[in-house]
Amino acid sequence: MSAVLRADDLERGFPGRRSFGEMLRGRPRPVVQALAGVSLTLNRGETLAVVGESGCGKSTVARALVRLIDLDAGQIDFEGQDVRTLRGEALRRYNRRVQMVFQDPYGSLNPRMTVGETLAEALNVHRMVPPGQVAGRVAELLALVRLPADSAARLPHEFSGGQRQRIAIARALAVEPEVLIADEIVSALDVSVQAQILNLLLDMQERLGLSILFVSHDLRVVRHLAHQVAVMYLGRVVELGPAEALFQRPKHPYTQALLRAAPKLATGPGSRSTAAALTGELPSPMNVPSGCPFHTRCPEAFPRCAQERPRLHLDPVDQRHQVTCHLYDGPMAIAAVQGAGG
Ligand SMILES: Nc1ncnc2c1ncn2[C@@H]1O[C@H](COP(=O)(O)OP(=O)(O)OP(=O)(O)O)[C@@H](O)[C@H]1O
Ligand code: SF4
Ligand SMILES: [Mg+2]
Repeated sequence: MSAVLRADDLERGFPGRRSFGEMLRGRPRPVVQALAGVSLTLNRGETLAVVGESGCGKSTVARALVRLIDLDAGQIDFEGQDVRTLRGEALRRYNRRVQMVFQDPYGSLNPRMTVGETLAEALNVHRMVPPGQVAGRVAELLALVRLPADSAARLPHEFSGGQRQRIAIARALAVEPEVLIADEIVSALDVSVQAQILNLLLDMQERLGLSILFVSHDLRVVRHLAHQVAVMYLGRVVELGPAEALFQRPKHPYTQALLRAAPKLATGPGSRSTAAALTGELPSPMNVPSGCPFHTRCPEAFPRCAQERPRLHLDPVDQRHQVTCHLYDGPMAIAAVQGAGG
């Protein structure tokens, strides 16, 4: 399986808020480390889901990949090119080939432009078809996302949330991208509408060979379509692996807790483990706990966890399955793997 998009060790901090008292005392502005060394690979024609609680850095990864925000460090590789160095025409080409769809399609669609104008604009900006063929291509795109042909003459507010998300997807597909970055694109929709959009994505992937990076906090949604899953916690990827293995045999105590918090998913032996469901407050990203950032909530934590950062471990049988946790260190590793696997 070849990689289409690879992120290596991405780092990005944002200035955090100070209280009035902290300002008076001249305390320096704290830093929110939204990404603290994130590495991921999106394989061609596959879906990589990025999951985790609110604020763990999912959208920051997505935005960094489409260059909506700059990075402090790290590298993004697209088909062997370092995306951070792209300028001019090469950057424009990248921006066409890697498209993003957002949670709120209403916010990203121009309310004063008809759907036809919105799609035509996307086609024209990148000169996708000769001017005489734009109207025909708009009709094809509407059919592709299963919207009625007369949608072209209507304004975004005339559509439901699910239909607006189809329009946003059609606009992204208009420029024939290889990669679609979808940030919580079904989170605001009813469950039945969610299923329609997910099926549409699966269909697009099959027909167009799209590679999809799918950001979601909802594991039920992810299970539907992910080939690979990356679990994030406080700006770090704590577990990454093939979806089947990760759902059936979650290794990281955080993944196990997330799965237990979504009971309908808990079918694998790992989910029947004795690990407690997720408890305790999510620490502030301005004050990340020492050692393993999860140690303040981890039911398996032992003294070393508060002192030493855990390192990345590859599953000895399937090296695509990776986990960052001390339970997999040295002689304890075998017991831990057995414990996580049931
Ligand atoms: N532009 C910004 N300025 C300041 N802080 C930011 C900015 N963007 C993100 N952050 C902070 O970085 C951290 C990660 O944010 P991010 O939006 O990536 O999380 P997320 O996983 O997408 O969360 P959610 O599930 O709520 O969408 C958060 O603490 C957030 O407050
Ligand atoms: S390193 Fe320790 S605290 Fe962190 S997840 Fe593993 S067992 Fe829990
Ligand atoms: Mg987000």
